[in-house]
Amino acid sequence: MAVGGFAVNEPVNGFNGKITVSVVVTCIVAASSGLIFGYDIGISGGVTTMAPFLKKFFPSVLRKQSEAKTNMYCIYDSQVLTAFTSSLYIAGLAASLVASRLTAALGRKNTMVLGGCTFLAGAAINGGAANISMLIVGRILLGFGVGFTNQATPVYLSEVAPPKWRGAFNTGFQFFIGIGVVSANCINFGTAKHTWGWRLSLGLAIVPAAIMTMGALLISDTPTSLVERGKLEQARKSLIKVRGSDTNVDAELAELIKSSEAGKAAQAEPFVTIFERQYKPHLVMSIAIPFFQQLTGINIIAFYAPVLFQSVGFGNDSALIAAIILGLVNLGSILVSTGVVDRYGRRFLFIVGGTQMFICQVAVACVLAATTGVSGTKHIYKGYAILVLVLMCIYAAGFGWSWGPLSWLIPSEIFPMKIRPTGQSISVAVNFATTFVLSQTFLTMLCHFKYGTFLFYAGWIAMMTIFVVLFLPETKGIPLDSMYSVWERHWYWRRFVQGQV
Ligand code: BGC
Repeated sequence: MAVGGFAVNEPVNGFNGKITVSVVVTCIVAASSGLIFGYDIGISGGVTTMAPFLKKFFPSVLRKQSEAKTNMYCIYDSQVLTAFTSSLYIAGLAASLVASRLTAALGRKNTMVLGGCTFLAGAAINGGAANISMLIVGRILLGFGVGFTNQATPVYLSEVAPPKWRGAFNTGFQFFIGIGVVSANCINFGTAKHTWGWRLSLGLAIVPAAIMTMGALLISDTPTSLVERGKLEQARKSLIKVRGSDTNVDAELAELIKSSEAGKAAQAEPFVTIFERQYKPHLVMSIAIPFFQQLTGINIIAFYAPVLFQSVGFGNDSALIAAIILGLVNLGSILVSTGVVDRYGRRFLFIVGGTQMFICQVAVACVLAATTGVSGTKHIYKGYAILVLVLMCIYAAGFGWSWGPLSWLIPSEIFPMKIRPTGQSISVAVNFATTFVLSQTFLTMLCHFKYGTFLFYAGWIAMMTIFVVLFLPETKGIPLDSMYSVWERHWYWRRFVQGQV
């Protein structure tokens, strides 16, 4: 088998857990936390192109846009607007780092509730914004909200899911992100026709926030988190609830207590422990995976598809149609991932998805270079625009079954209990930091590099696929508390972990 793709003999510990109605419902409710992140991703792009919104808060941008007569790659190049949109990511970055302490001290569930409430407050302030300060305060609160939930939810899902189906359950988070994106696109379509539409679009964010907060209030915390906080009786109840009343949970509970005690005995600061040599492989993954996820260029494709469609004269609704088509393809492909991630494994999906995205990015660059000319000023014909959309759909499917859901799954499943929240925090912080830097630069990049931008992302996709082949061990089916075995058997990482666990 390939160098990184050794077969791991799954540690047999007898508590693999079966799928119960309770665990399915609990995980669906928890995964709905993805709604608020998705809603924000979907709503912000549309709102920042609504003229009444720009007139009220960013009049200079509106003026510049109406005067601009540039090539098709440059029409939306505005630093002020991107700074506003990405302020959320800076707030989210700070919150995700704080969240590791909160999830350890208050539990995963309470951190999700806190995230939902903060997001709800931000949505209300944004919907009623009378001036730019309110808009920014609201946006920062939204950032805190997604910082908390994006940190706590994937960990929650990985800890509650039966190990054998952990991948499938965890993909639910990305699925709800996708539902949030598509719903927000549809809402923007309806509201864009009204002068107060932006208010409604921003204010309606309270709906997904209310749904996920109420959901989070109803579920119990993960057995792992309850054990860590010394609530052993509640942990047993929570285990029985998710594993089924006819299941003997003693072995699993004993294993959780053992891991928790080992972590506590070390008494070390998690942000220091995580930098120890033995956790180098884990740390590298928690940084590389979210960093690479953003360098797939998913957000530039999502942004560019509607612009391209408008520029070829598909009519006013074209932007929405392009966004919805991509959104639906993305949703469908996440379900494919749900179905195969625990059967064929994470590496298989990363490699298939990566290859597919690479081919599509190169093909899009070639079609654009051939049809719009090197400077991007030549008109692109409808037939070619449709070809580009088809390529983008194949690309979106590739992302949907690989880097989309797996970037939340991997960091949440590779760490030992004592540093799991810290690892997930670092991962979310890297995701937000990379999104921030790319969104600040990609419009300028598109304007200057033109079709070459797509080749830039293709290069990164090639690199990340090779990285997965060489360095990412297969984690499917391995119980969280036995995860050390995948590093011990890895051709490269074993030198870091041997003799340590
Ligand atoms: C990514 C976002 C992206 C979204 C698309 C998430 O996993 O982190 O940057 O916009 O997927 O659905």
